[in-house]
Amino acid sequence: MGQQKLQGIRGMNDILPQNSGLWAALEKELRQWLVEYGYLEIRTPIVEDTALFVRSIGEVTDIVEKEMYSFEDRLNHDSLTLRPEGTASCVRSVIEHNLLYNGAQKLWYLGPMFRHERPQKGRYRQFHQCGVEALGFTGPDTDAELIIMTHRLWQRLGLTHVNLEINSIGSLETRHAYRAQLIDYFSQHHEVLDEDSKRRLHTNPLRILDSKNPDLLELIQEAPKLLDVLDEYSRNHFTRLRELLDSAGISYIINPRLVRGLDYYNATVFEWTTTLLGAQSTICGGGRYDRLVEQLGGKPTPACGFAMGIERLLVLIEEEGNLVSIPTEPQVYIIHQGTGTLEAAFKIAETLRDYQIRVLVYSGEGGFKNQMKRADQSQAHFALIIGENELSSGQFALKPLRGQGAQQLLSQSQLIDFFNEK
Ligand code: HAM
Repeated sequence: MGQQKLQGIRGMNDILPQNSGLWAALEKELRQWLVEYGYLEIRTPIVEDTALFVRSIGEVTDIVEKEMYSFEDRLNHDSLTLRPEGTASCVRSVIEHNLLYNGAQKLWYLGPMFRHERPQKGRYRQFHQCGVEALGFTGPDTDAELIIMTHRLWQRLGLTHVNLEINSIGSLETRHAYRAQLIDYFSQHHEVLDEDSKRRLHTNPLRILDSKNPDLLELIQEAPKLLDVLDEYSRNHFTRLRELLDSAGISYIINPRLVRGLDYYNATVFEWTTTLLGAQSTICGGGRYDRLVEQLGGKPTPACGFAMGIERLLVLIEEEGNLVSIPTEPQVYIIHQGTGTLEAAFKIAETLRDYQIRVLVYSGEGGFKNQMKRADQSQAHFALIIGENELSSGQFALKPLRGQGAQQLLSQSQLIDFFNEK
């Protein structure tokens, strides 16, 4: 009896060879884009102290309440969590290594994040984010530049079905006062609230505004608006941000209900959404978090940033983008038959690779026909045939496999020239 097959974890995907070329192309494009804006890469561990996320994302958020992969390290009883996002880890690392001592920091990261959500198209339990954090910058120029740079990325990738939503959620103090106003308002309509909202009423009433329940839509629309009671700093900040976006020709809508699902934000918040992805329509989200560095034990440092979901971005790219996969198929597949031909094949392959040509050498004992079949299956552009005759003449037959002209006889140096010119 055979062993039972083991399967991957639900909501955690394998990235298979047929897709990894597009991932690699996107990663390359992202790196290039980020260096052009002066951002430096930071890589932090996937596992952190659970307290880091509880203190930064907030105790009464979906992520902390029900989506974190937390576990006890059996060996020393530490409480650990697979990172659900990158901002907290980035700030922790910046404080721990005193990076702000050298002035403001522009950082980025790319990697897997983990949230125990109900998997569906565009929503996974292991997903990837590319995140950008600007630490040590107070002004709305930074918020504007972050938005301008994402806009630029969409252009580079050929994405047009993307919309920007912005909002200002004010300072912590304003939100505190507004919170009391909201509790008052929603309490007056207590009987209409659903279970989730009732639970949130006294813990995190702002999140009720974010509810997707259609029965609450009208109630939410009529609720007092934070934008109407903004503190002066946030109001000026928001006005200037809008001016900068207008002058950069970036259109946006102001969405007063946009509050984001993480507690560390203040003033600016924004999201890029698309109509092409169905329910999971947010491809990028971010905002300002001026208190987080201090909250995690650093010196008071204003900051803002965003993160985009790579899986969602890739679906969008496949729908309408212009990014092409990094080529991985062999340019040449070497077929060899006869005494001394394998040795020659290995040598020629290495020489071609000196010129960055992608080469596969047939491996095994098969005859000519079988080797040709393999060459074809490999998606190689050409088969290079090395028999005993070719060995003694130094002329090799190069056979096009994808209808690119006639077979030709070439010496090794002609071969190199041939591929270099391609
Ligand atoms: P977030 O909105 O929670 O923000 O996530 C950012 C993006 O990650 C989302 O817009 C979405 O594209 C993607 N994403 C989130 N959850 C999933 C999932 N389960 N499956 C697939 N994609 C997902 C943050 O994480 C903040 N740290 C962003 C930030 C950086 N704010 C300031 N700096």
